[in-house]
Amino acid sequence: MEKTFVAIKPDGVKRGLIGKIIQRFEDKSYKIVALKMMNVTPEIAAKHYEEHYGKPFYDKLIKFITMGPIIAMVVEGKNAIKGVRHLVGKTNPDEADDGSIRANFSSYSTTNLVHASDSPESAERELNLYFSNKEICDNYKNMFEIVLNELGEE
Ligand code: PPS
Repeated sequence: MEKTFVAIKPDGVKRGLIGKIIQRFEDKSYKIVALKMMNVTPEIAAKHYEEHYGKPFYDKLIKFITMGPIIAMVVEGKNAIKGVRHLVGKTNPDEADDGSIRANFSSYSTTNLVHASDSPESAERELNLYFSNKEICDNYKNMFEIVLNELGEE
């Protein structure tokens, strides 16, 4: 099973969308294996978004992610990195697939509700930036896994 890092950004928290967004991941079979509300410091924000340093939107991105608490999560499941990105939708909500979280809940690239890792390397780096090993609780099976195990599937 693959792990990915997901954050509900300050707009999602302030708009009261935490439950609805998490529900989308659980509905799709993914398992939440770590979760916390936290304020992102400028130092963590700079590490998180270091690859975007110097881009025209960088300062706004840092200002936005440090504006209020986020929900940081580690989400686990089959092909979770690609699958979660698909559920979240493209950066610009106008271009996001119908039914994706961004298409359903936002009209702006700045306030686009959710961050999700875009590759195995980013997932590893980002989940280690936000969580320690002992905060990851992957020692349980969700209902999808229980049924699949009964069928002899991984
Ligand atoms: S890039 O250049 O293609 O790698 O950029 P992209 O992956 O689309 O976006 C990287 C992150 O920057 C956010 N973003 C913006 N924030 C503010 N204003 C504007 N115009 C803007 N454009 C992109 C975008 O949401 C990405 O953040 P995360 O947290 O990864 O979603």
